[in-house]
Amino acid sequence: MSADPYEGPVVLPDDPSFGPEVQVDYPGYRSTQWRAPKHPLVTMPEELHSLEGPVFGEGVLEAIDNDLTRQHAGEPLGERIVVHGRVLDEDGRPIRGALVEVWQANAAGRYRHQVDRHPAPLDPNFSGAGRCLTDGEGRYRFTTVKPGAYPWRNHDNAWRPAHIHFSIFGRLFTQRLVTQMYFPGDPLFPYDPIFNSIRDPRSRELLVSRFDLALTEPEWALAFEWDIILQRTPVEEP
Ligand SMILES: [Fe+2]
Repeated sequence: MSADPYEGPVVLPDDPSFGPEVQVDYPGYRSTQWRAPKHPLVTMPEELHSLEGPVFGEGVLEAIDNDLTRQHAGEPLGERIVVHGRVLDEDGRPIRGALVEVWQANAAGRYRHQVDRHPAPLDPNFSGAGRCLTDGEGRYRFTTVKPGAYPWRNHDNAWRPAHIHFSIFGRLFTQRLVTQMYFPGDPLFPYDPIFNSIRDPRSRELLVSRFDLALTEPEWALAFEWDIILQRTPVEEP
């Protein structure tokens, strides 16, 4: 089998701001055909790019919100892990006070969501969602369990590699990112059209976390490190 069974014609909107490695309508990932833009992008007025401050209320966050293993009466089943890293800008400067939100399947590969029909058990002690603000050095940290792989019916025998969904609200309107974090060495990487819709192998590797022995907590949890860099938008380029 080819290392990339989903290679196909590239369909990109006619807009120069799309680089060659950005493929928003990826043939192997079926639902992109319905949500990829078909028209050139519209540039927002510059004053909106410089909107200062968060659009979320910091007061609604609880300190426990970043521990997905302590949201219920008991502990969830699965491999307990710590996921941590920094949110940085393109110049390597920390983005402080960014809102980092995560959601994920449980250890059996099942989401607590009404449209998830995967016949794997729900865990009464796991909701699968958490959030936190980055600290003064741009650091975030979650305690959770490692999510399981799950089938998703995109194509015959389609399985997603284990992943955690991330949403980041930075301190500027342009510092917004929704993405997924993966775990090193997952055997499903070559078969996942979402992972492979990023055409540049080096860019794909940026989505894979690093096993972090130094942050592993003895007798408690493995640790994975994953830094997030929020790119400037083209309009901000000099
Ligand atoms: Fe997912």
